[in-house]
Amino acid sequence: MRLLFLLSATLFVSLGASVPVFGDSWSAPDSTWRKQTKDMSGRAGDPPDKYFRITYRYSSFNSHYDGRFAEVELGYYEQKQALKNLMQTFLSTFRDIGVETWLMHGTLLGWWWNKHILPWDSDIDVQVTEPGITFLATYYNMSVFRYKTPRISEGRAYMLDVNPHYSNREQTDGLNKIDARWIDTTSGLFIDITAARYNLTHPAGEGMMSCKDGHEFKDTHIFPLRDTIFEGMAAKIPSQYADLLAKEYSTSALTNTQYNGHVFKEETMEWVPDPRPFMVQITGQPESVRTEDSDHHDTVLPEGL
Ligand SMILES: *[C@@H]1O[C@H](CO)[C@@H](O)[C@H](O)[C@H]1NC(C)=O
Ligand SMILES: *[C@@H]1O[C@H](CO)[C@@H](O)[C@H](O)[C@H]1NC(C)=O
Repeated sequence: MRLLFLLSATLFVSLGASVPVFGDSWSAPDSTWRKQTKDMSGRAGDPPDKYFRITYRYSSFNSHYDGRFAEVELGYYEQKQALKNLMQTFLSTFRDIGVETWLMHGTLLGWWWNKHILPWDSDIDVQVTEPGITFLATYYNMSVFRYKTPRISEGRAYMLDVNPHYSNREQTDGLNKIDARWIDTTSGLFIDITAARYNLTHPAGEGMMSCKDGHEFKDTHIFPLRDTIFEGMAAKIPSQYADLLAKEYSTSALTNTQYNGHVFKEETMEWVPDPRPFMVQITGQPESVRTEDSDHHDTVLPEGL
């Protein structure tokens, strides 16, 4: 039975409070796992060999929702909030279990601008080392971590799912480029985790690293990692972040203050929907209207958690 594989490494953490919240008000992991039998995302249409299935071709659903958990695509502000929670719980869990991880791709670009996730981007990317992914696969696959924070007062379960194809280092398996996922079991939103592996046969010689998605870089562009803050939490970024970003997105992505239906407001250091009509479709209500809490709850976790 599938549920037996659930290693319920249950963790109660209260972000922003000085004491972790312990309680028995939590439901068992199985009640959140596979909460529905019908996959609403269209995942069923994917090739059977693909471990993390995509969704977009088979339904109107956004591909950045895990079809096992997603029921609806969230509105603009709800999604933004859910992604923030996703990132915060991810960063604090990985810090807790001692797995080094750093921001990459569009997520790193979001950091560059204002240390937040880009509001139009639900494709969240982080990387780990090869020993890191092996450790996760060995000890934490399918672990469920439960969090209770000022913003998630009802509590929420996040699951770490490691692709069994992680052990294949080669770029031959185009269906399994993503090595693991950190999944919000309520919304289905997730973070893609890829391992950066030393490439021993790279024509450019020693120190080259490759990911299964084809990205490659020199190790000195990544290490030593730099300490920073992202979404209010301690996080790490590659040492040569500007070079990496310029190479991936061109320098204009680092300076253009209008992008994807959004404008960057220097005064508030925020990407906001472009006020010109129809630039972006906004659904839901801004956080400030919906809830009273704000960024000052995003204090770093207490020591020793
Ligand atoms: C993680 O667990 C799932 C569910 O049991 C399994 O299908 C998958 O192969 C596991 N991944 C690894 C890396 O063992
Ligand atoms: C190493 O790099 C080469 C050249 O980019 C690539 O073809 C090969 O797939 C890489 N190997 C691994 C294990 O990633």
